[in-house]
Amino acid sequence: MKICSCYEVSKSELVKAIRKQMLESIVDVQVVTKASTGCGRCKPVVLEILKREVDKRSDKNTQLRLPF
Ligand code: FES
Repeated sequence: MKICSCYEVSKSELVKAIRKQMLESIVDVQVVTKASTGCGRCKPVVLEILKREVDKRSDKNTQLRLPF
């Protein structure tokens, strides 16, 4: 499913880049994938995907810090 039609970036490409390269901001995602650097229409969706992945990452880190 294409999220960014300007640069033909799919949801799976975004998720893969965010996870693999530990991206944390919209600028990181823009530099790596180019998504959201054209018309900007996809920006809210790209931000939502980024937020979900960063939240998942911090959930995992919280679990790792538990002493048991
Ligand atoms: S649809 Fe992503 S920048 Fe235009």
